[in-house]
Amino acid sequence: MRRPLIAGNWKLNGSRDSATALATEVAAASSEIDVDLLVCPSFTLLAPVQAALGSSCVALGAQNLSAHESGAVTGEVSAQMVAESGCRYVIIGHSERRGLFGERDSDVAAKVQRALAQSLVPIVCVGESLDERDAGQELAVVSRQLDSALGALDSTALANCVVAYEPVWAIGTGRSASPEQAQAVHAAMREWLIGREAGAGNTVRLLYGGSVKPDNARALFAQRDIDGALIGGASLDAADFLAIARAAV
Ligand code: 13P
Repeated sequence: MRRPLIAGNWKLNGSRDSATALATEVAAASSEIDVDLLVCPSFTLLAPVQAALGSSCVALGAQNLSAHESGAVTGEVSAQMVAESGCRYVIIGHSERRGLFGERDSDVAAKVQRALAQSLVPIVCVGESLDERDAGQELAVVSRQLDSALGALDSTALANCVVAYEPVWAIGTGRSASPEQAQAVHAAMREWLIGREAGAGNTVRLLYGGSVKPDNARALFAQRDIDGALIGGASLDAADFLAIARAAV
């Protein structure tokens, strides 16, 4: 009922040549895999990647946008600019943005509003640190992040969001959450969403992210509330990314 979404977060990687080659390979295989595919390159690679995706069904997304609409904020890229670059999705509140660039829950909430105002689908990232997990606080952390990012949305806006659970300790470490650990948090997120609004809560897609690889993807996707993945390292290899996508069918 919830169509899988398999998203590649390319982070700060790729040249014009390597990014277009990767996009071309993903696009070529996309019609054979019955899932929604998405690639999220850096801002300056959006145009060449869009050209490489051509008329395929692979969607384009950005990795961030500004909480500001316009004005004297040097170096920022607005939601309108992201939308006009051909993006349908935008990743918001990634733990690297929160951890390395000081993004607060309130910034994430503002960015979600900016994205929705431009008809972009925000992929809202949440997830606990290792210390928070060791202290048994993962559900409290995730629910605080959801309250802040999505708590003010009406049901129509909520239905247009995607949520990605990315435990910080699993990102880029090769140590994925177990399917059971991920499902426990996804079930709590589903409950939170349904508590807000049953209709939207049941349709919002919940992605898992953190060391998703071809060999662990199938067990993760078998979980009831895991509707896809947000993939870092493995999305830089077309064969691995497509193998993960096939595991979701
Ligand atoms: P890895 O798949 O490299 O662990 O990265 C996950 C991630 O941060 C996706 O946004």
